[in-house]
Amino acid sequence: MIELREATIKDRKKTYKWLYYSDFSDYLNELGGITKETIPSYEYYKKDEYMDFYFDGSQPEKGRAYIIVCRTNGKIEDIGIISYTSFHLLDKITEFDIWLKGLNYTGHGYGTEALLRLAGIVRDSGYDKVIIRPSKHNKRAINAYQKAGFVEENFEPENYIKTEYIPKFSDGDYGPDGDVFLVLTL
Ligand SMILES: CC(C)(COP(=O)(O)OP(=O)(O)OC[C@H]1O[C@@H](n2cnc3c(N)ncnc32)[C@H](O)[C@@H]1OP(=O)(O)O)[C@@H](O)C(=O)NCCC(=O)NCCS
Repeated sequence: MIELREATIKDRKKTYKWLYYSDFSDYLNELGGITKETIPSYEYYKKDEYMDFYFDGSQPEKGRAYIIVCRTNGKIEDIGIISYTSFHLLDKITEFDIWLKGLNYTGHGYGTEALLRLAGIVRDSGYDKVIIRPSKHNKRAINAYQKAGFVEENFEPENYIKTEYIPKFSDGDYGPDGDVFLVLTL
């Protein structure tokens, strides 16, 4: 039903809108402590969150983004984004991030299928483990990740994150104890 295609620079703006201005954004922003006033600008998104390499494939060792494409009844539609990020993690470990373009698209199994597809891609590139850190309140996301084979584990930053990045990344997007740490062993 879905497939992944490598995202391009032209895709970046819509992925920003899906994340911060779709009908699930208020919920997701609130979980991340983001208010209407503090929604990151598109300039910030390009410079500090989803840099060029995600969209131009120039540094696959750091990360890459893919567009989730849905084909139903001859109709082809871009319905979300999924990415892996590795620059901050120890060897053979990568981290996934995923969001669809709106609430209508959730709950149909698309997210789980996209996770399985990307897991296959990173496994073929030599990775051993994938981590993901949803908010502990985001039950839909946690369900999807568990369906894809992710298992909850205790988070020991030094087992996953490069020493120099521990101060910046050990808390995750939802603050201390705000997330669930899930691991997929490939
Ligand atoms: C997280 C996300 C990518 C998952 O993709 P998805 O296509 O919705 O996931 P699936 O349909 O494969 O699985 C979702 C599961 O949660 C269940 N679910 C749906 N709504 C739910 C809710 N409000 N509470 C709990 N479970 C819920 C679904 O029934 C399904 O489980 P089931 O197949 O056993 O019934 C997608 O929901 C999304 O984009 N959400 C908004 C953005 C987001 O939260 N991103 C993750 C940030 S970490």
